[in-house]
Amino acid sequence: MNEVTVNLKERSYKIIIDNGILDSIGNEIKQFSFSSKIALISNPTVFALYGERVIKSLSNAGFDVIKILIDDGEEYKNLHSYAYIQEQLLKNRLDRKSAIIALGGGVIGDMAGFCAATYMRGISFIQIPTTLLAQVDSSVGGKTGVNHPLGKNMIGAFYQPKLVLIDIAVLKSLPKREFLAGMAEVIKYGIIYDSGFFNYLKINKDEILNLNPIDLTHIIKRSCEIKAEVVSQDEREAGLRAILNFGHTIGHAIETATHYKRYLHGEAIAIGMCVESKLSSISDEEFHLIISLIKSYGLPSEIPDDINRDTILTVMTHDKKAVSGDIKFVLPNKIGEVEIKGGINKEKIIQALELK
Ligand SMILES: NC(=O)c1ccc[n+]([C@@H]2O[C@H](COP(=O)([O-])OP(=O)(O)OC[C@H]3O[C@@H](n4cnc5c(N)ncnc54)[C@H](O)[C@@H]3O)[C@@H](O)[C@H]2O)c1
Ligand SMILES: [Zn+2]
Repeated sequence: MNEVTVNLKERSYKIIIDNGILDSIGNEIKQFSFSSKIALISNPTVFALYGERVIKSLSNAGFDVIKILIDDGEEYKNLHSYAYIQEQLLKNRLDRKSAIIALGGGVIGDMAGFCAATYMRGISFIQIPTTLLAQVDSSVGGKTGVNHPLGKNMIGAFYQPKLVLIDIAVLKSLPKREFLAGMAEVIKYGIIYDSGFFNYLKINKDEILNLNPIDLTHIIKRSCEIKAEVVSQDEREAGLRAILNFGHTIGHAIETATHYKRYLHGEAIAIGMCVESKLSSISDEEFHLIISLIKSYGLPSEIPDDINRDTILTVMTHDKKAVSGDIKFVLPNKIGEVEIKGGINKEKIIQALELK
């Protein structure tokens, strides 16, 4: 069994990574002395694949499971679903010692976490992330929330789970495109923090793409370790945590310009990492290593001609992270090390957007 600890003093928690661990959830959470009623939040797609196994394990451990399903899709990560979940929790009389378990990707995890943060001013929360993106990114670090018609993730809270349980076996049913999108965030960790890990992703690409359990466990564990280290030092993004946004300034602008329809998040971030590397002072040799690794995982690396460059620039200038119109970027100095930079000349940005 592989474990990573997220050190946040009294809010510290463990991430357990294993092959087939889904069936042990009941035993894993016995230690917490939750009351017997537990809410399991999922969507119909994931529940059909893994829900009954999770319920069986919880029932065998003596828990009474209240199942709450929200339709599958980012469009349901909203205040309406939030209100529906709260209503179910109230109707089923979950109490202050009850826990919520999120079984699904980032959409379910973010939403269930925000419900846990606010139901009776906060009850315990467990994450069982089932997409690669959720396993290496969204389930760790405590950002929870829902979207509002006026902005994505605009309503939420920092709220840490009590445990993250990662079963690598669930990735077998994940559509390939979703898996590859998750790989973009994995590659990001190599570029921002660990050149050895970057090389590992290059050398072991075939095994990773074949879902070899040893390699999957390693890349998920290393990604979680890096995220945990960064989050432990800066839980609320006052400074260091911003390095996790490498590729995201451009990536978010691409997602906005294409109305969140054309690219999965990780795909937009892959393009963002390529363009932002172009903006950086990294050597030509390392720049090419980054581009070829991203391409080798079947991810896009450039902005298609039909996406309007002015829209991208405007979106970035109005981003909540820009200060008085100055766009902040996370830029690699070399593979494994980044810095946060503002004051970059607009002409240079426009040139980088044209990267081919
Ligand atoms: N909290 C954070 O720090 C953080 C970080 C990054 C992203 N996010 C959020 O995460 C969300 C995206 O998460 P996502 O990429 O996991 O998308 P998602 O939750 O929509 O899942 C993608 C698709 O895969 C399906 N699926 C999930 N697990 C499966 C499995 N094992 N087998 C088959 N199908 C499966 C889902 O039903 C869905 O259709 C966004 O809302 C984003 O804002 C949050
Ligand atoms: Zn991301």
